[in-house]
Amino acid sequence: MKQLFESDGCVSAGKTKLEIYLGDCVEGMARLRSKSVDLVVTSPPYNLGIKYSAYKDDRAREAYLEWCVSWGEAIKRVLKDDGALFLNVGACPSNPMLPHEIAKAFSDHVFRLQNTIHWIKSITIDDEESEESISRGHFKPISSPRFLNDCHEYVFHFTKTGKTPIDRLAVGVPYADKSNIARWAHTREESRDRRCRGNTWFIPYKTIRSRDMERPHPATFPAKLAEYCILLHGRHAGLVVLDPFLGIGNAATAACRLGVKQFIGFDIDPEYLEVAAAAHKTRVIPLNEIIGSPR
Ligand SMILES: C[S@@+](CC[C@H](N)C(=O)[O-])C[C@H]1O[C@@H](n2cnc3c(N)ncnc32)[C@H](O)[C@@H]1O
Repeated sequence: MKQLFESDGCVSAGKTKLEIYLGDCVEGMARLRSKSVDLVVTSPPYNLGIKYSAYKDDRAREAYLEWCVSWGEAIKRVLKDDGALFLNVGACPSNPMLPHEIAKAFSDHVFRLQNTIHWIKSITIDDEESEESISRGHFKPISSPRFLNDCHEYVFHFTKTGKTPIDRLAVGVPYADKSNIARWAHTREESRDRRCRGNTWFIPYKTIRSRDMERPHPATFPAKLAEYCILLHGRHAGLVVLDPFLGIGNAATAACRLGVKQFIGFDIDPEYLEVAAAAHKTRVIPLNEIIGSPR
């Protein structure tokens, strides 16, 4: 079968029980048992006029924020008390406050903001020794006399208490200067050459030749972004992961790669879900097939 989306080495559902539902996520989450999900990794529509095939991405600002709070509350209901929501949101130069408005609405009404992560899509490092500039990653260039190219998005880490432990070293990195292994011993959870990665994650999109064939969706995140979120939350044998805005299924790919026990995804767009389901050799399930109501 043709490789339909970004994940390299298409994942079979393998150990992971995958449930991909066609329908509105608020309605869908209402059918799930309360406190039945460990982790939500998701990226909603950003209300920036992106051209989705079914969803219209241009609500009035207040209505949009109210809608965000409604699905935020639905997420909170299904999350376990030690669960977490990793919420990826981007902005555009004409609407730079949007991610912060969502974060404020959530922290006022629904969750505690525990960490703010910057997903870096492209970066240039000026190497002092070689005096060369090394550029990596991809971004959509902006032609403007006043705005910079937009090379990052946010990932807000929300929890119920703001005190939920995370597995920092699961996405840790080796020390560049090994003398720091002894110097920063008090910052290490274990005695090895690994430190916390911090809150800047450089995760480039894969280079693609045909968007229609390889990434048939206008606003995806790389599966690796979701993998980092799952790892940081902490893996255990019974992990249940949910993406209420599944798109073409990159969070499902991450869940399968990491062998989580169960993954649940919703989207209102049958075209995107068919791509996700095909990549995982499964089927799209109509919402009314969720067993019991509520579970
Ligand atoms: C930013 S995209 C998510 C893309 C996804 N992270 C990926 O990598 O493919 C947002 C998605 O939300 C979906 N959507 C919009 N309204 C929805 C709703 N009420 N319930 C479920 N999904 C919805 C859109 O169809 C779109 O695919």
